[in-house]
Amino acid sequence: MRSLIDIVDLSTDELDELIGVAMDIIEHPAKYSESCKGKKLATLFFEPSTRTRLSFEAAMYELGGNVLSVTGGATSSVAKGESVADTAKTVSCYADIIAMRHPKEGAALVAANNASIPVINAGDGGHCHPTQTLADLLTIFREKGHFDNLTVGFCGDLKFGRTVHSLINALSRYSGVRFVLISPEELKLPSYVKNETLKKYHLPYVQTTDLEGAIPSLDILYMTRVQRERFFNEEDYLRLRDTYILTPDKLRQAKQDLCIMHPLPRVNEISVSIDDDPRACYFKQVLNGKYMRMALILKLLKEAQA
Ligand code: NCD
Repeated sequence: MRSLIDIVDLSTDELDELIGVAMDIIEHPAKYSESCKGKKLATLFFEPSTRTRLSFEAAMYELGGNVLSVTGGATSSVAKGESVADTAKTVSCYADIIAMRHPKEGAALVAANNASIPVINAGDGGHCHPTQTLADLLTIFREKGHFDNLTVGFCGDLKFGRTVHSLINALSRYSGVRFVLISPEELKLPSYVKNETLKKYHLPYVQTTDLEGAIPSLDILYMTRVQRERFFNEEDYLRLRDTYILTPDKLRQAKQDLCIMHPLPRVNEISVSIDDDPRACYFKQVLNGKYMRMALILKLLKEAQA
């Protein structure tokens, strides 16, 4: 049974195929309005979410399907001590596909190993978040028209930011991409991500603490929130949370066609006065997430039937 746990589960051809389907959905939404008639998506979210869960649910409704939903462990049998494995087996009896978010790294893989229907990882702890990457890729594609030869800056919490880990992997497959990793010393990109992508493929990257110094060279600036819930103590969080705040002033040296991204939620990292700047793309990412999740649900359900 084909699931999506990590972005590496999708080949580069498949990423391009999903972008193609999403673009077709954008142009011809009516064509897809009954594609998942009679099918059910179960959204199992054991961590807070607004965009990811609602975009999965909106995606399924726009495909003509239905949604079953568990939000927060407190209202499901997880609160009684049920394992992820048993939950996955149970939900397989009622739904056709699962989207699951869980605070533990590896939980989505455990679910996939026990489910008899496709499982989509909607974020597993500080590990990865492949469907945010799909939203990010469609946004870059619609803004830039290609992925090759871009200089991409990632700024903020590169240690716990799972969206960063997945997007670096996806972008590392395209040629000529350069990475600028901007973070405080304590929140640097984990070495496993560096070893499995940047170092393995000999990709050019620099690490810096200086956002302003990096900005002029960037085609994409991907801001992130400091992930409070993954910190071991509040003191460190409070010290690091406002390290980077993007303001109009800091953008003075930026390229005219810079694409400013953020997976959201934003706390303080981007001043709201940037929202009306044509380079701000973070609310476009929100919408693109729905189209890519539609394309993904279609693909996995089709493969499950074959
Ligand atoms: C991200 C996540 O959950 O990892 N949010 C999202 O899905 N759009 C980013 C974050 O929570 O900071």
